[in-house]
Amino acid sequence: MTTNAIHTLESLPRVQLAHLPTPIEPLPNLSKYLGGVELWIKRDDQTGLATGGNKARKLEYLLGEARKVGADSLITAGSTQSNHARQTAAAAARCGLECHLALYAPDSQPPDQPEGNILLDLLLGATIHWTDEHAPYRQTIRHIEEKLKAAGRRPYVVPYGGSSPIGMMGYVTAMQELINQSELVGVLDAVVFASSSGGTQAGMILGSYLTGWSGKARLLGISVDEREATIGPRISNLINQGAQTLGLDWWVNDDVVDINDDYLGGGYAIVGDAEREAIKLLAQHEGILVDPVYTGRALAGLIDLIRRNEFKPGQKVLFWHTGGTAALFAFGNELGM
Ligand SMILES: Cc1ncc(COP(=O)(O)O)c(C=O)c1O
Repeated sequence: MTTNAIHTLESLPRVQLAHLPTPIEPLPNLSKYLGGVELWIKRDDQTGLATGGNKARKLEYLLGEARKVGADSLITAGSTQSNHARQTAAAAARCGLECHLALYAPDSQPPDQPEGNILLDLLLGATIHWTDEHAPYRQTIRHIEEKLKAAGRRPYVVPYGGSSPIGMMGYVTAMQELINQSELVGVLDAVVFASSSGGTQAGMILGSYLTGWSGKARLLGISVDEREATIGPRISNLINQGAQTLGLDWWVNDDVVDINDDYLGGGYAIVGDAEREAIKLLAQHEGILVDPVYTGRALAGLIDLIRRNEFKPGQKVLFWHTGGTAALFAFGNELGM
C-alpha cells in the first residue's frame, strides 16, 4: 500500500525550486548553555527562494499544479510580514508568472516604509493588495481572482500558508529526506518546530508514516497563533486529505497531532521576552538567526521545555528551522535594537 502511495507522490507535478537536502548541524554551544540536551538543527531557512523557508518545499508542488492547469498568475494572501507571500512572489518570478499578494494592514493602509518581507515582495515584482480583512482573507482573494479573470487571465490561488493536500507534500518528501540523511535520525528523541497553518506538521506526520518512522521520535509542533483545539483538528484533517491524495486507506484522529499551545505569548507577531531571549541565544551562541514570529517563538518553547526538564540531558532533539529570517529586518524596535 505504501509503495503505491510513494509512487503516486513521485508522480505528482513538481517544479524544482528549493536547495535540497538542507543541512543538519549540531548546536554544541547552545546545548552546553542549556545544560546538556543534545541539540541539532535542520536548516530549512537555507532552502533558497528569496532567503529560504518552509514554503519553498510546499511551493514546489503548488507550482507543479499551477503549471499543470495552465495558470499565468498566482494569488496568495498573508499577514503584513508574510514569509509565505514572499516565497510565493519568488516562485512566481522564477516560473515567469505574475504574482498578486493580499496582505493585511490596519485600515488597508500600506506601512510608511517597505521593510523586511514587504521590501522583498516588491523587489520580486509582486503586486500588493493591502486589506484589513483578517485571515484567511477569502473575500479579498475572491475579488482579485474575479478581476484577473475578467481581464482574461488564468490565476491560480495558492492556499493560505501553502497548507493544502498538495502543498503539504513538500513536507512528506522533507520527512523522507530527513530519514535518508543522517544516522542521527535513528537516535533522535524529538523533532521540534513551529506550527501555524499546519501543512508542515501534517506533511511530516504523513511522511513519517510512509517511511515507517512513525512513533520513533516525537514530532512536536509549537503552535504560534492558535489553541490546540483549533490547530489540532485542522492538521489531522490535512493528514487525512493528503493520505487520500496519495491513495492511502489510512485515517488518523486528532491524537496523532503532538502540539503544544503554551507559547502563544501576547498573540500573533507580538514579540515578548521569551522570543527575544531565544533569538539572541541562538544568534550569540551559534551564529544562526531565527525569526521574530514563528521560529523565534518555537525555539523559545523548546528552551522552556528543556528548562522544565521535559527534555533531559543526554536526549537528542532536532529543531527544524522553518525560516522567516527576512522578517527580522522589520522588527528592530521589538527586538530592542
Ligand atoms: C518561518 C515559518 N515557520 C513556520 C511556519 C508554520 O508553518 P505551517 O504554516 O506549515 O504550519 C510559517 C508559516 O507561515 C513560517 O513562515
